[in-house]
Amino acid sequence: MAEERGTARVTCTAPVNIAVIKYWGKRDTDLILPINSSLSVTLHQDQLRTTTTAAASRDFTEDRLWLNGEEVDAGQPRLQACLREVRRLARKRRGEDAAAPLSLSYKVHVASENNFPTAAGLASSAAGYACLVSALARLFGVEGELSEVARRGSGSACRSMLGGFVQWQRGQRPDGRDSVALQLAPEQHWPELRVLVLVVSGEKKTVSSTAGMQTSVDTSPLLKYRAEVVVPERMSRMARCIQERDFEAFGQLTMQDSNQFHATCLDTFPPIFYLNDISQHIIALVHRFNAHHGRTKVAYTFDAGPNAVVFMLEDTVDEFVEVVRRSFPPASNGDQFLRGLPVGTAVLPEELVSAVVVEPLPGAIRYLLHTKPGPGPQLLDDPSQHLLGPDGLPQRSA
Ligand code: DP6
Repeated sequence: MAEERGTARVTCTAPVNIAVIKYWGKRDTDLILPINSSLSVTLHQDQLRTTTTAAASRDFTEDRLWLNGEEVDAGQPRLQACLREVRRLARKRRGEDAAAPLSLSYKVHVASENNFPTAAGLASSAAGYACLVSALARLFGVEGELSEVARRGSGSACRSMLGGFVQWQRGQRPDGRDSVALQLAPEQHWPELRVLVLVVSGEKKTVSSTAGMQTSVDTSPLLKYRAEVVVPERMSRMARCIQERDFEAFGQLTMQDSNQFHATCLDTFPPIFYLNDISQHIIALVHRFNAHHGRTKVAYTFDAGPNAVVFMLEDTVDEFVEVVRRSFPPASNGDQFLRGLPVGTAVLPEELVSAVVVEPLPGAIRYLLHTKPGPGPQLLDDPSQHLLGPDGLPQRSA
């Protein structure tokens, strides 16, 4: 923690995660306790990250929050819940009478930025709350288990508190103390695993996850069956696939679980549609690609929006990217179509093209982002990277 002119500031970064066994539905909407466990892959912050600066000072008169440069209401209950929990843990740690470096009664200023467009619908709340909690915890000197606090911001955020392959266990206790994230394996565990985010053209999502999942809990019998019967078995199977680095089994289960999540959305009344026409074209393309190769080489998953996240091994990336390029020829931004980790060139065999690239849809995919599994939240030591100045007000980041 750096203290200048009475203002203490901490800056952290945190990752996005993508669930391969989906969280959908709460049994407690205030504590954000899920009806089923879930499992995710943390994506690398070199490509997708949130950066957050938290500052505290005796001179601040109210909590204030800036998201991507715009000031927003800092009174929102989920933000306040995270702040309250961090302060509670800090108080517990210090003991009531210890000489505290920073008073817990100081108001905070928080500024947060994503290095990816929020409109891309890429789980920005998970990275956002994980980053907020990491920065606040550092600011107030709290260490240890923090996924429980991040969970109070957004359920999926608890999984962004760890890198690699992460399980959020449902837990049994009504107070949520056992509803925490655990790392199954670090990011180095599966070095060949790659992730391609296909950002599709079109509008933002219409029904938020929070609202959508509550309607599903209230109306979908399929969701109840999924949570009670399907997910417990899938959780252990998925953990085994990851442990054994069995891509085929991992990929199949990932696709099946995404499909079942979207089936529960259709089973919700009134129904919720997150996939669009382009999503469906991507699904069909992936299945044609796998059928052509006679095995599961690529696997899609979709959250509460139309963008696809596609898993594959390193040796499949060049070929699959070329297939996507031929199937969804870039409209005008040809040079920005491919972002993230480098991709090599591939010459596609004629049989592959005729079997897999059936009806090209120009402009349907805005861009591809190539990334891989990555670590959990990081502390930035360089003071020039603070998003808030010594006065606690936003300054342009470097
Ligand atoms: C489809 O974590 O955004 O991405 O807890 O209400 O904030 P709240 O919901 P949120 O839901 C994420 C749902 C999902 C699946 C997943 O990430 O597991």
